[in-house]
Amino acid sequence: MNRALFQKIIFAWFEKHGRVLPWRVKNHEDAQRMSGVRETLATYFTKAWRRDPYRVIVSELMLQQTQVDRVLPKFEHFIKRWPTVLDLSRAKLSEVMIEWQGLGYNRRARFLHEMAKRVVEKYNGVFPQTETELRTLPGIGEYTARAVLAFAYGQDIGVIDTNIKRIFARVELGVEANAIPISPKEFQSFIDFSVPKHHGDPWNQALMDFGALVCTAKSPKCDHCPAKTLCIAQRIAEEYRVKTYAEFLKTPHRNQQKKQSIPFEQTNRYFRGRIVDKLRESPIHMEELRMHMETNHGLSSRKKFGEIIESLVLDKLIYIRGSRASLD
Ligand code: ADE
Repeated sequence: MNRALFQKIIFAWFEKHGRVLPWRVKNHEDAQRMSGVRETLATYFTKAWRRDPYRVIVSELMLQQTQVDRVLPKFEHFIKRWPTVLDLSRAKLSEVMIEWQGLGYNRRARFLHEMAKRVVEKYNGVFPQTETELRTLPGIGEYTARAVLAFAYGQDIGVIDTNIKRIFARVELGVEANAIPISPKEFQSFIDFSVPKHHGDPWNQALMDFGALVCTAKSPKCDHCPAKTLCIAQRIAEEYRVKTYAEFLKTPHRNQQKKQSIPFEQTNRYFRGRIVDKLRESPIHMEELRMHMETNHGLSSRKKFGEIIESLVLDKLIYIRGSRASLD
């Protein structure tokens, strides 16, 4: 495909439709001065400033598995309360856990807190700048490390989140993200190769927005897509005489077997979340906690309750002392 044209199309779209998000500003002071101001986007292309890695990490950890709309107020509040990594390192874990309420996946809160302490103790409060070192920090995997390198340090590398993966799977390979016919390593180098020189930061941000607003998972806006003429998935749809790839996704050609899934309210993740929610109110006697889970959340199996408690203890999300459970 014509890479230069694709880059041009995506950037033109981003300048017009990109989202102004609080973690896209440089630092806490700028966030206060520029909140909601559209120039934030223009600065991507005109000024080579670096973003505070702490803001990038807080936002990226919040955004893993949680929608942007839900993250927005939590991010603003979190950053106001602990504007720097030093502030967070001095917070109590239980305070961080309480602040995290509503975001789910509570382990991320504990990781973030541990990470802040580690960065202060080991790196004097300055985040490392290599993928290897970043990945030694709690909660930082390949994705988050690369996001920091691109967004905070401006490196020209590809960040593969679900949106970006979906775009490239469709535009370059003509498939959905779960059917990519090449190895993850090949796919990564292919995405790295697409990054325009010196524009790794806006490029990845632009693709994330494009995936969230145009090339969406279930009903992509192919009718209005500026990259339609370059898209292999669109070309395949047309070969089947279907007008857009969005329509093609709904045809029998694409009908994938629906996975059997159990309701979320019966999953361990759901029960874990409710247990932590209960402990956010106050420490509680184990039997009382078990009864609360049975009565209010239908967790009737004692065995399953025990296993879930054990997993929370192992993950250091809750603590049991004698017969009492608490968050710290
Ligand atoms: N999802 C994950 N990271 C994001 C970011 N930096 N901007 C928007 N959505 C995201």
